[in-house]
Amino acid sequence: MFISHRYIQPEEERIKKVGTRRHNVPPIDLSKLKGPDQKKVVDEIVRAVETLGFFQVLNHGVPLELLESLKNSAHKFFSLSPEEKCLFCPGVSPSSKVKYGTSFVPEKEKALEWKDYISMGYTTEEDALRYWPNQCKEVALDYLKLSTKMVREIVEILIENLGAKLEESRIEGLLGTKLVNMNYYPPCPNPDLTVGIGRHSDTGITVLLQDHIGGLYVKLDEDDNNNHGGWFEIPPFSGALVIIIGDIFQILSNGKYKSVEHRVRTSTESRVSIALFNSPKSTEKIGPLENLLKKDGVAYYREVVFQDYINNYFANAHYGKNSLDFAK
Ligand code: SIN
Ligand code: FE2
Repeated sequence: MFISHRYIQPEEERIKKVGTRRHNVPPIDLSKLKGPDQKKVVDEIVRAVETLGFFQVLNHGVPLELLESLKNSAHKFFSLSPEEKCLFCPGVSPSSKVKYGTSFVPEKEKALEWKDYISMGYTTEEDALRYWPNQCKEVALDYLKLSTKMVREIVEILIENLGAKLEESRIEGLLGTKLVNMNYYPPCPNPDLTVGIGRHSDTGITVLLQDHIGGLYVKLDEDDNNNHGGWFEIPPFSGALVIIIGDIFQILSNGKYKSVEHRVRTSTESRVSIALFNSPKSTEKIGPLENLLKKDGVAYYREVVFQDYINNYFANAHYGKNSLDFAK
């Protein structure tokens, strides 16, 4: 079957299936944060963020039925007619915070990403119920609300491990922007030539639900046991959510934590994923934490206003961890 040349990736960006390595580390059970294994779980989280930039979690506070409803509601939305979906296209959408689109920054991309999305920015519950698409607004809002406690707990663990004490308003500021993105990757006749999402890092902390199809790849460094670095597939794990650490944690930690470069391979079957992006408020200043600057004696990143960072992020095509260069 014919694939338009606009979607054919340059050789170096294509994702091979043959010989793919899989990262099969079991998810972290967050219910153990309350028991005698608390320290062990905290250490596991910190270690994952220092070395990988992501981990998976179970017992995350989002009921399994809701995960199923989320995937179903994504399919419901994306099976609407083009005209119905385009009621949320920029310029006609009832809210500037709700956007239906395709690829990432099409005008900047060498080849387009094989993906559509509906992006639902959160301001208030009332606005979400008024402006988000009917097919998915209630479940998406529940996803956002029910993951809030977990996201907050993880961020507190990460901050505390850096030896920093942040005021409540600062932590709220770091998590002040929330956005639910539903991604739809249509069936692709030749997944060897296209990508679902090009390699990139995220901004803040992402809670990602992937369906059973698979296709999420992460780029890892060589580990302490001399296992070669490179691209690894993260096979879907039933009931688990993937926590993806974004650039701001690499900046805040002065490089102690890392954001993970990741990308998506297409499939001959359709795939959905649902991401909750937790990012700072637009006015928040993001730079290495004060106590780390004292200790390290050097700043590996400059302080940036989050809005400036995000403007740069959305002005460029996905291209590895380039987004982080803005803070250098
Ligand atoms: C993303 O990186 O935003 C989505 C990843 C996925 O679809 O698995
Ligand atoms: Fe991402």
